Order: sequence, then C-alpha cells, then structure tokens
Amino acid sequence: MAGYGPETYGDRIAEIYDEWYAEAPFLETEASVDLLAELAGDGLVLELAIGTGRLALPLAGRGIEVHGIDASEAMVAKLREKPGGDRIPVTMGDFADVGVDGSYRLIYVAFNTLFALLTQEDQLRCFTNAAAHLSDDGVFLIEVFFPDLARFDRNQRFQTNSVSPTEVNLDASRHDPLAQRVDSVHVVLTEGGTKLYPVNLRYAFPSELDLMARLAGLELKERWGGWAREPFTVSSQRHVSVYGR
Ligand SMILES: C[S@@+](CC[C@H](N)C(=O)[O-])C[C@H]1O[C@@H](n2cnc3c(N)ncnc32)[C@H](O)[C@@H]1O
Repeated sequence: MAGYGPETYGDRIAEIYDEWYAEAPFLETEASVDLLAELAGDGLVLELAIGTGRLALPLAGRGIEVHGIDASEAMVAKLREKPGGDRIPVTMGDFADVGVDGSYRLIYVAFNTLFALLTQEDQLRCFTNAAAHLSDDGVFLIEVFFPDLARFDRNQRFQTNSVSPTEVNLDASRHDPLAQRVDSVHVVLTEGGTKLYPVNLRYAFPSELDLMARLAGLELKERWGGWAREPFTVSSQRHVSVYGR
C-alpha cells in the first residue's frame, strides 16, 4: 500500500488507541503483565513497539526496568503524557533493527505487532536482532493471532463491527495469500465525516515463526493459547510463544 511506513499505523491511531484498546478485555492486559513480570524476574526488559505503554507502564510500576522501541512519535507522545511515561527510555526506529545497546532478560512484542513487519525477511531480522540482545538466560516472547484464512472470500473481507444512528464502524481488507499479507482499513463513519485507520500485516503460522527462531539460534520453550497459560489447541485464536537459547 503506497504511503504506508513503519510509523503510519501509530501516527494515525494514536489519538484513539487507548480509548479502543487500553482496557479491551480480549487483550488481557493484567494477565499479560503478570506473565511478563514473572519472566522478567529482576532482569532488564525491552518492549518492541512499546506504543502508548499499555504493558510497559504497569511493568515499570512493579519496579521492573523497561526500555522500548517504536516508530511512531505520536504513540510515544501519548506514553510520555502518562504518569511515569517520561522515565521509560524509548529508542525511535524500526523495531526489526532492535537498535539498542545492552542485553535483556526479556524482549517481547505483543498484540500481533510482529506481523506489522511486512516481509519474511524483516520478521527474520527481528528474531535475529532480538536474539543478539538477549542475556544468556534471556527469552523472546511474541503474542500473535493464529491465521484464519476462512475469514476471506475471494481474498477480501468487509466487516460491519457496529451500527448506531450516529456511527458506523467497519473493516475493509484485501488478502494476498502469496505474500501472506492483509492490508486493511478500519473505517469510522459519522455525520461529522469519515475516519480511516490503516493497518497492514504479514501473518505467519507458528511453524514458520519457529523456523525463524531456529535460524536466529533460538528454540521454542513454551507456547500457550493465551496470557493465562491456557493450552494451545486447534481452537486457539492466538498464541503466546516464548523462545530462548
Ligand atoms: C498495536 S500497537 C501495540 C502497542 C503496545 N505494544 C501494546 O501492546 O499496546 C503497535 C505499535 O507498533 C508500532 N510499530 C508498528 N510497526 C513498527 C515498526 N516497524 N517499528 C517500530 N514500531 C512499529 C506502532 O507505532 C504502534 O505503537
């Protein structure tokens, strides 16, 4: 999609991101923070695509030292506005580069954001660079959806999320199964005008992710169907996967 870069998603959604997601039950933020804190122990933590700090701020609130990377100034500005948000070191840039110094006990990328890297090459680069910044006992955790290709009819999907007398909320998507790409626009229609929130993804199945990890010198240590360590089964819509040496 022309005009779509690493910063586009965040720059366009920053204004309403927390309203939509900060307390969204399906994200299980509290359970996420519990698991991340347990894996971090007393070690240093790096969040790839830290955004507005939905996870990083409560982790920091538990006394854990958290650093972040993000490409969107607008998202990081929202983090900075919150209590404690000015004390989290954030590196601006593409998280595939993992452009930081030092080594971490825990590096994580949540809420499907590994798939925001739009080629296999970039996703592999992310695994490799994350591995290079892990301490010997460090782990790399990802939370991503399990691809459901039945969502698409002739490689497209149009979904009506909600309808009211004052607002219509839609998702329009195109699927490219060869590139494993889904380019979507979340559309909000009101009498005041139309708002467009683009989000492009490259999905991968767990087997491909595990192979990327192996190429990066890591192996799968745990795979759960959710943040509360639910078993990963054929019914799981997502997985939380932990890789280490
Ligand atoms: C869905 S939000 C997740 C934010 C936060 N991790 C959370 O779980 O609430 C995705 C974040 O990834 C950032 N992002 C997307 N692609 C990126 C890239 N290639 N490099 C750095 N940040 C990126 C966006 O700016 C946004 O802050």
